Amino acid sequence: MSTVNDSVSATHATPTFTKPDVVSMAVAPTMASYETLYKTYDWSQTEKALNWPRKNGYNLATLCIDGHPDEVMQRDALIWVSKDGKEERYTFADLKRETNKLANALTRLGIKQGDRVFTFLERVPEVYISVFAALKVQALVGPLFAAFGPEAIRDRLSDCQAKVLITSPELKGRFEQIMRDCPSIEYVIVVDREGTYKLTVETDPDVLLYSDLMASADAAFDVPHTDKNQPSIIHYTSGTTGKPKGAVHRHYSAVSQAATAKYVLDLQPETDVYWCTADPGWVTGTSYGMIGPWALGTTQLVYEGGFNPETWYKLIQDYKVTVWYTAPTAIRMLMKAGEAPVRAYDLSSLRHLLSVGEPLNPEAIVWGEAQFGHVFHDTWWQTETGCMHICNYASMTVKAGSMGRPHPGVVAGILDEDGNELEAGQEGHLVVRPDAPSFFQTYWGRQELYDSRFKNGWYYTGDRAWRDEDGYYWFVGRADDVINTAGHLVGPFEVESALVAHPAVAEAGVIGKPDAERMEIVKAFISLKAGYEDSEKLREEIRLFVRNRLAAHAYPREIEVLEGLPKTRSGKIMRRLLKARELGLPEGDVSTLET
Ligand code: WT7
Repeated sequence: MSTVNDSVSATHATPTFTKPDVVSMAVAPTMASYETLYKTYDWSQTEKALNWPRKNGYNLATLCIDGHPDEVMQRDALIWVSKDGKEERYTFADLKRETNKLANALTRLGIKQGDRVFTFLERVPEVYISVFAALKVQALVGPLFAAFGPEAIRDRLSDCQAKVLITSPELKGRFEQIMRDCPSIEYVIVVDREGTYKLTVETDPDVLLYSDLMASADAAFDVPHTDKNQPSIIHYTSGTTGKPKGAVHRHYSAVSQAATAKYVLDLQPETDVYWCTADPGWVTGTSYGMIGPWALGTTQLVYEGGFNPETWYKLIQDYKVTVWYTAPTAIRMLMKAGEAPVRAYDLSSLRHLLSVGEPLNPEAIVWGEAQFGHVFHDTWWQTETGCMHICNYASMTVKAGSMGRPHPGVVAGILDEDGNELEAGQEGHLVVRPDAPSFFQTYWGRQELYDSRFKNGWYYTGDRAWRDEDGYYWFVGRADDVINTAGHLVGPFEVESALVAHPAVAEAGVIGKPDAERMEIVKAFISLKAGYEDSEKLREEIRLFVRNRLAAHAYPREIEVLEGLPKTRSGKIMRRLLKARELGLPEGDVSTLET
């Protein structure tokens, strides 16, 4: 029996799932009592438990791959299932050998501390090997989402002057379209799993085969001494204005990723098989699809393919997945697929379910509980925070619809416009103290923008929220124009820029339109250049144009053609007004509107 009693008030009209009796749970949670741990915890406890630093300092690859005790080295680190259902298994010892080889190959190419190495691959084992090999040579790694179009790749590679791109024969063509804009790339390494790719002789940049590099590489590598602040991983994230910006993390981040993998994912490495459905192109896929779970020595399942209810349930059944970290949009799509597929598989291995990326609606929690016998635990965090910050825990009462309570070690607050802390029940800016070891170190090349996110010791998350009397946080929305579609942030400016690059488009304004399944969809309002006429065919052409340039998730699913767009007198398109009109809401202050 838990010793602390929650005093959950019934002030909200959402279902609550009262605190489980931890003694009666089949697997006792790592966190027995939230209140006790919150009072006593600081991040250094996890640092000590991880036995960090090691002899070579704080290298992430040493912590997550090489430095486990012998018995863990023989455990499967990665169980990989291809799109067509083929399986490959890699123990920690296997990953140590493969990452050593690639680290040697990268060193031979002259890649050194601080250089930028990018991967642009489907979810194949080589992504995981490349990331940790690059970390071994102290390069800064940028994993790119395979759905990115040429522009999205160009923006990222050229912004941080990447030296190496590791890609596949299928995806290489997208890089080639923008190659001339990326002269910093010295090497393109091609991962050819089919073994059919033919190298052409003279190329610039140098194109090399991954398999050739690995065949001649030594399997022993001395990981150099690594400082805790050594940059590790860069993920680009969207803001209201400008191009996506690169949030830079450091090797030391693993302390808070490991802590949260233990206390929130509740990973118990001796027995768990853990599945994170996120792609390594997003922060969830590196913080919780690589670093956190492997720092603890947990076996992970990785599925190369995309969403499909039957396949997903079959994977859970066949690999006896115990802990499952996914996203609200996926859960809503599973709901849509209904009960029949759930019943067709044995999902009894599942013991702990979690979600991230967008608000998790109470219906999804109720449905999950009914189908799987477990509640989905919502977690809130951001690319910038690097680790989960506000969460629901296995041993704590879940109020459906709430993001939960600050993780031990995290101080959160709700502030008004003047920076004053607000009381329970009042909505304001969600802020946190930037104390977690995984907090981002800078936006690549944008120090001023980075600095602007902090005030009076608080980091402004860009979200609005409120806290209830029990200290639970409730998400309200973004404080800016950033769109959240199926858990992916999309900056309206990026989409507008891609739209106006189309010859027919004169001007464009982009908003997030509420959507039952994806939370929001990208909706574009455009005006056309003289000589073009609105038609379904033209709108489809524009949709495809943006989709091919940016990414499959970022194109406007809806396009509406207007005579002209509402603008301020200084010529700025008023997205707020477009949104208000779309949703039939009051138009608010229109004093700056150009008439
Ligand atoms: C933004 C961060 C960190 C993992 C993936 C997204 C929204 C994230 C939740 C949640 C409501 C959420 C916020 C946040 N968000 N989790 N549990 N409930 N909203 O990382 O791309 O940096 O996006 O996603 O708006 O600020 P990201």
